[in-house]
Amino acid sequence: MCGIVGYIGQREAFSVVIKGLKRLEYRGYDSAGVMLFDGFDLKVSKTKGKVSDLEEKSKSMSQTGTIGMGHTRWATHGVPNDVNSHPHLSNSGELAIIHNGIIENYEPLKKELIKRGYTFSSDTDTEVLVNLIEEVQKNEKCKLGKAVQIALNQVVGAYAICVFDTKKPDEIVAARLGSPLAIGIGTDEFFIASDASPFIEYTSNAIYLEDEEMAIVRLHKPLRIRKIKDDALVDPYVQELQMNLEQIEKGGYDHFMLKEIYEQPSVIKDTYRGRLLANQGLIKMAGIEDNLERFLNAERILIVACGTSWHAGLVAEYIIEEFARIPVEVEYASEFRYRNPIINKNDVLIAISQSGETADTLAAIKLAKERGAFVFGVCNVVGSSISRETHAGAYTHAGPEIGVASTKAFTTQITVITMIALRLAKAKGTLSNSDYHRYLQELELIPEKVQDALLTNDAAEAIGKVFQKSSNCLYLGRGYNFPVALEGALKLKEISYIHAEGYPAAEMKHGPIALIDEHMPVIVIAPKQGHYDKVVSNIQEIKSRSGKIIAVVTKGDVQVRELADYVIEVPDTSDALSPLITTIPLQLLSYHIAVLRGCNVDQPRNLAKSVTVE
Ligand code: F6R
Repeated sequence: MCGIVGYIGQREAFSVVIKGLKRLEYRGYDSAGVMLFDGFDLKVSKTKGKVSDLEEKSKSMSQTGTIGMGHTRWATHGVPNDVNSHPHLSNSGELAIIHNGIIENYEPLKKELIKRGYTFSSDTDTEVLVNLIEEVQKNEKCKLGKAVQIALNQVVGAYAICVFDTKKPDEIVAARLGSPLAIGIGTDEFFIASDASPFIEYTSNAIYLEDEEMAIVRLHKPLRIRKIKDDALVDPYVQELQMNLEQIEKGGYDHFMLKEIYEQPSVIKDTYRGRLLANQGLIKMAGIEDNLERFLNAERILIVACGTSWHAGLVAEYIIEEFARIPVEVEYASEFRYRNPIINKNDVLIAISQSGETADTLAAIKLAKERGAFVFGVCNVVGSSISRETHAGAYTHAGPEIGVASTKAFTTQITVITMIALRLAKAKGTLSNSDYHRYLQELELIPEKVQDALLTNDAAEAIGKVFQKSSNCLYLGRGYNFPVALEGALKLKEISYIHAEGYPAAEMKHGPIALIDEHMPVIVIAPKQGHYDKVVSNIQEIKSRSGKIIAVVTKGDVQVRELADYVIEVPDTSDALSPLITTIPLQLLSYHIAVLRGCNVDQPRNLAKSVTVE
């Protein structure tokens, strides 16, 4: 994980780098550092804590310099402290590096460097890499770019790096393998960053480096990109950025998470715009149309993902099997990649990922491709590694999701999956004509219903006040709402640090029921459609053990209202589409509880938005 920013140009680099790091803080926020070069001196400021702490600490440092690099860290090797923060300098003090990723073979490299007289002040793998580059430079008497290339060819692991050499103060060398890196091209200036957000107000022209590529970024010179392995020159592909500044700001909300929850009606519309043509009875998704035969001939569909995206994958299993009658298996990408799974040439693998950078999901894709499967990506971040690694795909178009807890990514993933299920059902004739058209029309109405579901905000806050001090919580749902229960529990635990478990409601009696007493809040998702009567029985089981019942019900519900301690009413929708609605109050409940507990909602402890390490 970690976020990196580099700048070379005419502006004062400090503010560009600090502002950029604040935008990248979602990637890691346990320590931060900045390096500036003013033509004479290399100045470094680093601290444990957030970018705002770095800003404060750097007040005592001269902030002049038109070349700068900064880093916001999510610790892998070495605890978060000032010394382990990046940038790291080489022993001579001439080279500086910032790094996102992991150097797996750093120990043997470090031993060898120690034999050669190098000393290390931090516990990081990154300090090993910068000294390795220095050692190569010394031995080969080569320029920085060459030395970086030779060193990287000795390294096993993942990296996005920027390296600066005081002997060559008009250039930064950047390289990537497995961690994202974008280069913004301005007039007489370049920006290098983990994503494009640090430079969108300066330029809309960007190049995304591919794996095993390095760029020599030099002032007043054309950008040169080479393959790290064989030195081949690569033609830079300059893209026009789609992001705008407004999208990555809070827009009057207290937190990004709340803003993103409230964006759901409009981003769900963005997701289906031009694809869902309910009046014409059509779903048009280029990635599916172009590969329809692959899907229709699939013996089964495998779905891999992590975290919230995995929960969307579970919804996908239910809806694709129900609508299109194709067998679906859903797996955690981290398990799939290491268990020697059976993958057939006729399988279609769908990888779901908001960031498009999750290391385990990426590795699962590579494995499936090696074994001949057709791989389809459902990603949010345009141009991300997963979107490029897959054979075809569909973007979710949710816009930048900055709150670490996923919200709009989840509902837009489900929207894409629902469209896929409907398209396949139409091609296979597995849904009746009337059901098919009914679902199309209902999907079109989902943004309005989500808007309505957002009216549960006050109820969610009031219930949050009652339960803010709880130490455990159980979430129960059946069928389509079982994944919603898992997602509700994940949301609560990750931002409020309350232990929460999601369970299929019927499974409760096979163990978790032992946890229920008068102190245990149990959130039950009980919409009218689906397995309502069965869920009502489960609620009775909780009630007779004095559990506190918070039920998410369909508007006008009577039966559950009589049993539950608290009810949250959402609009009616068919069972298969209900996750898009029932998930909304659960997001709001977690949000309010976290705020009431004084937690950092957008940057919960120990987490990072983009998990580029396995
Ligand atoms: C939870 C959350 C994570 C991610 C997971 C996968 O709110 O955000 O569980 O869903 O790390 O990330 P992506 O979707 O980027 O692959």
